[in-house]
Amino acid sequence: MAVIDEKLKDLIDGFHEPLDDELRELRESDESEGVPLIMRETEAVLRLLLGFVKPRRVLELGTAHGYSAMFFAKMLPDAHVTTIDRNPYMIDTAKERFASYSEGSRIEFRTGEALETLESIRDEMAASDDALRYDFVFIDAAKSHYKDFLEIIEDITTDNAYIVCDNILLKGWIVEGEGKEAKRHRTNIKYMRQFLEYIKERQDLEVTILSSGDGLAIIKRK
Ligand SMILES: C[S@@+](CC[C@H](N)C(=O)[O-])C[C@H]1O[C@@H](n2cnc3c(N)ncnc32)[C@H](O)[C@@H]1O
Repeated sequence: MAVIDEKLKDLIDGFHEPLDDELRELRESDESEGVPLIMRETEAVLRLLLGFVKPRRVLELGTAHGYSAMFFAKMLPDAHVTTIDRNPYMIDTAKERFASYSEGSRIEFRTGEALETLESIRDEMAASDDALRYDFVFIDAAKSHYKDFLEIIEDITTDNAYIVCDNILLKGWIVEGEGKEAKRHRTNIKYMRQFLEYIKERQDLEVTILSSGDGLAIIKRK
């Protein structure tokens, strides 16, 4: 079960216009190599949100080959972007790719398990000033751990930060977890359901759920 009908998806994707030719090429290259990257619809929502919010410090969980990190850096010419991935090959590829891009100097790459890296960032921040807190976070890795991530992210973000979680509808399996493919993802489905219940119960958070792409949760403190 797809979140939306394929024909509708094609129609919506037809409106996608890359920010520039470099991002166009990066998307084409990732798609042709089967490298995971944000869907066009997801990019459209992020673009709208970033245009309104104009964050200064962006934190991303899940770099892959760095498409979205570069998108953040290009969208926000004054922002610092930190991106985390546990796979050293992914980080090395992204670093290599961006060595010649002017935006590359504003992207900080961290290799490691997202949870452990978040803990390190929290420790580092405890000894530094509040100016280092992030005001925009994009979670796009390890779908079973969103709740654990959120707990730490709340410690390292500003009061008015936006936290955007990708893939929260898991191709629709979140409501209909039947079939062979869904069964293979049952752990993710179970934990994502728990995460959605958790953020729904949290009265101190403002949560917006969108069906765009593979489903997005946009979270902000009230
Ligand atoms: C969907 S891809 C990220 C795509 C990227 N945000 C983009 O749009 O270009 C997810 C990435 O998360 C990484 N990942 C998965 N589990 C992780 C974990 N527990 N800690 C850190 N990175 C993880 C994978 O190695 C993969 O590169």
